[in-house]
Amino acid sequence: MASGEREPFQNTVVEWIDSRMPIFTMLQKEYGVFPAPKNFNYFWNFGAIAMFMLATMIATGIVLAMHYTANTHMAFDSVERIMRDVNGGWLIRYIHMNGASFFFIAVYIHIFRGMYYGSYKKPRELLWILGALIFLLMMATAFMGYVLPWGQMSLWGATVITGFFTAIPYVGESIQTLLLGGFSVENPTLTRFFALHYLLPFVIFAVVFLHIWALHVTGSNNPLGIDTKGPQDTLPFHPYYTVKDTFGLLVFLMIYCVFIFFMPDILGHPDNYTKANPLVTPAHIVPEWYFLPFYAILRAITFNMNLYFIVGLVFLFVLIVEFIWRKKPVYLSASAGWAMLVIGGFLILTGFTGDSCQRIDPKWLDENGGFKGLCGALQSLPGMSAAAAPISAKLGGVLAMFGSVAMLFVLPWLDTHPVRSARYRPLYKLFFLLLVVMFLVLGYVGSQPADASLLGIPLIYLGLAGTGYYFGYFLVLLPLLSRFEKTKPLPESIHQAVLSKQIKVEAKI
Ligand code: HEM
Repeated sequence: MASGEREPFQNTVVEWIDSRMPIFTMLQKEYGVFPAPKNFNYFWNFGAIAMFMLATMIATGIVLAMHYTANTHMAFDSVERIMRDVNGGWLIRYIHMNGASFFFIAVYIHIFRGMYYGSYKKPRELLWILGALIFLLMMATAFMGYVLPWGQMSLWGATVITGFFTAIPYVGESIQTLLLGGFSVENPTLTRFFALHYLLPFVIFAVVFLHIWALHVTGSNNPLGIDTKGPQDTLPFHPYYTVKDTFGLLVFLMIYCVFIFFMPDILGHPDNYTKANPLVTPAHIVPEWYFLPFYAILRAITFNMNLYFIVGLVFLFVLIVEFIWRKKPVYLSASAGWAMLVIGGFLILTGFTGDSCQRIDPKWLDENGGFKGLCGALQSLPGMSAAAAPISAKLGGVLAMFGSVAMLFVLPWLDTHPVRSARYRPLYKLFFLLLVVMFLVLGYVGSQPADASLLGIPLIYLGLAGTGYYFGYFLVLLPLLSRFEKTKPLPESIHQAVLSKQIKVEAKI
C-alpha cells in the first residue's frame, strides 16, 4: 500500500498518524483522487448503497443480539420483548428486518447492472466471482437470520430447506444432522444458526474488502463498456461520485424509511408472528421474497431423472460443448451431431414420459387407452421405476437450485463476446431483458402453492419453462451470441461520447 512517497498533510494529527501508518494517503488515493469514468449513471450507486446496508445490518444486528435469547423456549418472547419493552427496540428490529430486504434489492440491482453492462468480463472476472461469493454468503446469512425469531415460518422454512439436503446420496442425512445438530430443527439448530448469523456478516465484510480491492486494481466499467483511455475520460472520485452516491443513497433511504415506518411487516409473513409449533404445519410454507425465484427453480423439478433421461442430457451437453461452446467441433462430425441430437432428444422424451406415467391418474389412463398402452410399454423398460432413478426429483431440484447460483460464477466464461455493454448488443439486450422477466415470473411461481395455476395453466409448467430459459440463457444463448452477434459501432472514447451527448442536448435547447 501507500508506504512509499507521500504528500504531507496540513492537519498535524492526521500528519502524525499518516507519517507512521499512511492510512490517509491510502484513503486519499483510493477514494479521493481515484479516477472513475466520467459517464457513470445511477446504477453505479448500488455498490455504495449495498455497502451502507451491510454496515446498517451489522450495527442493528449487534444491538438486537444484546437483547435476543437464542433458546427455543425464549427466542420468540425475547423478540416480542424487543418490540414492546426495549427502548427503541421496535425501530432497531424494523430497520434490521426491512434492511435484509433492502440489502437484497440493492444487491440484485447491482448484479443485474453488472450483467447488463458486461462488468463481469475481462479483466473484472475475479471481482465478479468475489461478488457471487458475497451473494452466496448473503443467502446463507439471511436464511439463518429468519430462523432466529422462532416463528412458524422460521421453524418450517428451516425444516423444508434443510430437508432438501437429505436428497444428496450417501452423505445427505449426515449433512442434515450436522446442520441441525440433531434430527429436527430444535434448540441446537437455533444456537448454531445464531452463532453463524452473527459471524457471517463479518466474513461478508472481509470479502467486500477484497471485492473493492479487485475493483481498484482494474478500475470501474461504465455504461459504454469501453476502457478509459486517459484523464479526459475520468473524474476524481471525490467530490463527483461521493456526492452522486450520497444523493442516490438518500433517495434509497427515503423509500426504505417508508417501509420501516409505514408498512414494516408487508415484506414478511404473518405466520412468523405465531410462535413455532412443531405439531402444526402452516398451510403454505414460503421463504422470504428474495429467495422466491430460487425456490421456484428448486420446486420446478417434479420428475425423477432416470437413466434414459440422464444419458439424453449427457448427449445434449456434449453437443452444446462441441457445436456451441467450441468454435469448431473437435470430436464430432456434423452427421454424428445430428444423430446424437435425435437420439438424445428421444432418450430425454422417453425417460421423462416414462417417469411421468407413474404420476398420471389411473382413472384417466383407463379412459385414454392409447396412453395406457404407451405408459405400460415405457414402464416395462428396465430402470424406469422411480426407485431406480439415480437422480430423484428432490435431488434434481437441489442440483438445479445450486446450479442456478453456480451460473453466476462461470458467467465470465459463458459470455465471451468482446463488446461489454448491452447498449451495443441488441440481441443480448433482448435476451437479457427476457431473463429479468423470467426471474420475476419465477419469483411469482415461488410465492404460490405448488399445485396452483394461472389462467388454467398449472404453475409447475411456468416454473419449468422459467427454469429452462434461465439455464438456456447461460449455457446456450450467451455462448451463441458470443460467437455470432453483430454489434452496433462503439464510440471512440468515453469523452467523445459524453461530448456528443451534450451537444445533442444543447441543440435541443
Ligand atoms: C455486500 C454486497 C456488495 C457490496 C457492498 C458491493 C460493493 C461494490 C462497490 C462499492 C462497487 C463499486 C461501485 C459500483 O460499481 O457500484 C462494486 C462494483 C462491482 N460489484 Fe459489487 N458489491 C456487492 C456485491 C456484489 C455482487 C453480489 C456482485 C456480482 C455477483 C458484484 C459485482 C460487482 C462488479 C462486477 C463491480 C464492478 C462494476 C463496474 O465497474 O461496472 N458485487 N461493488
